[in-house]
Amino acid sequence: MSHTITFRPSGVRIRCRPDQTIAEAALEQGVVVPVSCENGVCQICQAPRLSGDFRFRNELGEAILEQDNQVLCCVAYPSSDAEIDMPDVFAPYHKAEVSLACQVRSVTELPGNVYRAELLAPAGKKVDFWPGQYLMLTVDTRDGEQQLPYSLASAPGSMTGADPRTFELHIAAGSDTADQVIAYLKQAIIARVTLPFGDCRIHPDYVKQHKQTPLLMVAAGSGFSQIKSLIEGVLALNPLQEIHLYWSNKNRDGFYLADLPLSWAQTFANFHYHPIIEQHSDGWNGRAGWIYQVIHEDFTDLSQAQMFACGSPNMVYGTLDQLQPLGLSQSNMHSDVFAYAPR
Ligand code: FES
Repeated sequence: MSHTITFRPSGVRIRCRPDQTIAEAALEQGVVVPVSCENGVCQICQAPRLSGDFRFRNELGEAILEQDNQVLCCVAYPSSDAEIDMPDVFAPYHKAEVSLACQVRSVTELPGNVYRAELLAPAGKKVDFWPGQYLMLTVDTRDGEQQLPYSLASAPGSMTGADPRTFELHIAAGSDTADQVIAYLKQAIIARVTLPFGDCRIHPDYVKQHKQTPLLMVAAGSGFSQIKSLIEGVLALNPLQEIHLYWSNKNRDGFYLADLPLSWAQTFANFHYHPIIEQHSDGWNGRAGWIYQVIHEDFTDLSQAQMFACGSPNMVYGTLDQLQPLGLSQSNMHSDVFAYAPR
């Protein structure tokens, strides 16, 4: 039986099989743990035990745990879930957090009361993130300075060939906070952002690993912003990837970049676009209903699929629950909701 090892303070987790030391499991899963001798001698891999039980490949590991409560990762086999204190251990594909003062190049109103803000990083800086990640935007509001999360609504220029200093955000107006953000950006010359954040993202190895896997991209309303970034990234890495975009809105005005998915469908043979509105109405020729109902009509087995979902916690968990009988689970579904609204 495998056990979970959690590294503190980063919170990075790995799964460790019974035949693997912590160092071996970390290496296999792309997590960098310092190792040198790999035999319990140099002690470069030792870390204080916070919890959990271990057995060891040699007596050096036993002795150090007993004397100093330190775990030598190169010779330690966990016999329960465990936590160890090892700073500077990061998840695979971790990108360093940076703060940038960016020029606000434009704020454009799109259909459906959504605004697109285009920002430009300072000269000599590129905006480094993975498709699907988000940033924190610093905004002066009536309640003082606030940091608010927004999805990066484009893939990084280093992947798509666009200017690596530019990026865009989509902001749905209508709430007090969003209206203040839009008003702030309209008059701002410079906006401060900190990035990147979020594990609901893709990287080259992910796309390589899933090149034969259908990717279901599910967006509700302006959740399309994150999904747009993901799709742009996937198509840049593998133009032949099978992608199904399910974009749901209350009514047709919500499709604020309606032509973009149509152009993807025309350009990329394996891209399939499914616009959905909640209830049929006059002049709508597309599909209607809950997102999961429409996906149910298209798929009988999702056990080999991967899904990315951006919308409210209700939408994300509702879709997961309703599609579980088809083989969807939290391990093949990706959403920031799992991190900010766990259940
Ligand atoms: S790598 Fe030397 S003791 Fe673990």
